[in-house]
Amino acid sequence: MSSLTAVINLDLPGPTISRHVYGHFAEHLGRCIYGGFWVGEDSEVPNVRGIRSDVVEALRGLKIPNLRWPGGCFADDYHWRDGIGPRDQRPRMVNSHWGDVVEDNSFGTHEFMDLCEMLGAEPYVNGNVGSGTVREMSEWVEYLTRSDDSPMADLRRANGRDEPWRLPFFGIGNEPWGCGGNMSAEHYADLARQYATYVRNHGGNAVYKIAAGANADDYAWTEALMKVSQKLGCGCDPRGFFQGISMHYYTMSGDWSVKGHATAFDTDDWYVTMRRAHKMEELVRGHSNVMDAYDPEHRIGLVVDEWGTWWDVEEGTNPGFLYQQNTLRDALVASTHFDTFHRYAHRISMANIAQTVNVLQAMILTDPDSGALVLTPTYHVFEMNTGHHDASSLAVHVKGEVPTREVEGKAVPMLSMSASTKDGTALVSLSNLDADAPTSVVLDLRGAAVTGFDARVLTAPTIQTHNSPDHPDAVAPVVHDGVRRHALGLEVDLPARSYTTVRLELGL
Ligand code: AHR
Repeated sequence: MSSLTAVINLDLPGPTISRHVYGHFAEHLGRCIYGGFWVGEDSEVPNVRGIRSDVVEALRGLKIPNLRWPGGCFADDYHWRDGIGPRDQRPRMVNSHWGDVVEDNSFGTHEFMDLCEMLGAEPYVNGNVGSGTVREMSEWVEYLTRSDDSPMADLRRANGRDEPWRLPFFGIGNEPWGCGGNMSAEHYADLARQYATYVRNHGGNAVYKIAAGANADDYAWTEALMKVSQKLGCGCDPRGFFQGISMHYYTMSGDWSVKGHATAFDTDDWYVTMRRAHKMEELVRGHSNVMDAYDPEHRIGLVVDEWGTWWDVEEGTNPGFLYQQNTLRDALVASTHFDTFHRYAHRISMANIAQTVNVLQAMILTDPDSGALVLTPTYHVFEMNTGHHDASSLAVHVKGEVPTREVEGKAVPMLSMSASTKDGTALVSLSNLDADAPTSVVLDLRGAAVTGFDARVLTAPTIQTHNSPDHPDAVAPVVHDGVRRHALGLEVDLPARSYTTVRLELGL
């Protein structure tokens, strides 16, 4: 078993890892909102005001910092006024992106804000640029955040909510290069400035506005937005037109026509997936480089508001519903993404996995018939990482050669690590991406005494292992006893295909 050394200077904290990189995304897509979060007040599934209690309880364990809604592609079809007022009088619409099903708008603005309050999450509302008007967007923000007797505040009161909500995050459209309007970067950059001008800060509510950014490695898109981001317009926010620029990237082992099977895959698919997961680091570096040229002080945040695995849908399910299983492989895709997000804490202000329940790389899968709820391996990575929320990043310097495997002509590292410190503790994350070979790492811990430690590990007998109602804990974290004192600090055994977190107590 190989062993390499990772040096961590515990007394040299870097930038804060925003808790918002642990954000989530809930779209009107398949069974994410309907059946996942929302069952309605008359449902036999236990609920509070129509929102599933078991889902809320499980997600509270993740300390979800923010929730993006209503899309995604759906956002640019969504007209918020259809989702307020008495539910039986709300107009219906066709959800043409996702299954061509009829949407009855029973889950709208009030229900979403109620959900956020139950979760303890901050709302990230995504506005409609593709088919909505500037006025519509402006009035939505007024409806949500204004406290006086303005027309929209009065309308909100008429619908049963007296106090305004706090709205910290607002998205100016979604994927305008595709489903959000098929625009050029320059055309969208102008629209983003126009729409953002009318997303106003009412009262004390300062909105962090997020311009809809690039598809994967479209660096020209980011550049077009950066060129205009810092210009100030008349009557505009002194912080600029927008404070964040998004980027979307999905991991798959195939391509957009055949993405790969969620559970029936082999070791080659596993390694291709790991190679594609590592691509997130390349993309973040590329977009950061572009942003650095215009904004060396990191005032504009990179917002990775859609990421995760995208597999072919489970057999027998609606192809437009994007329902997929979730294995140990998905967990390791998530853990390596977080290492990247931690390393780029100076630039990444938010990230949102797609999506929270029953869609793509979900935290929770619910059975449509029995209602049974299953926590996925990805859920456990989010839970194991809560100690990184708002912690200071710590650089991890590797001495020696990280083992690699040749995949698609690239040497792909089989080890991924990151660390952070907060409140007299540190948390070290270690992913062993090798499907078969265990390894170990010596943590050379400098700058503080380690007065105590404990560790947990997430692994499984096979790379395809996943959780189901019959085997809900097939992949679940357990106490890891493979950590011992070493002359330099600690030595950590990493089983093949595993994710380990080591929590340190520090005597600074
Ligand atoms: O998350 C599913 C879809 O992927 C979103 O609606 C869209 O923004 C992206 O293409």
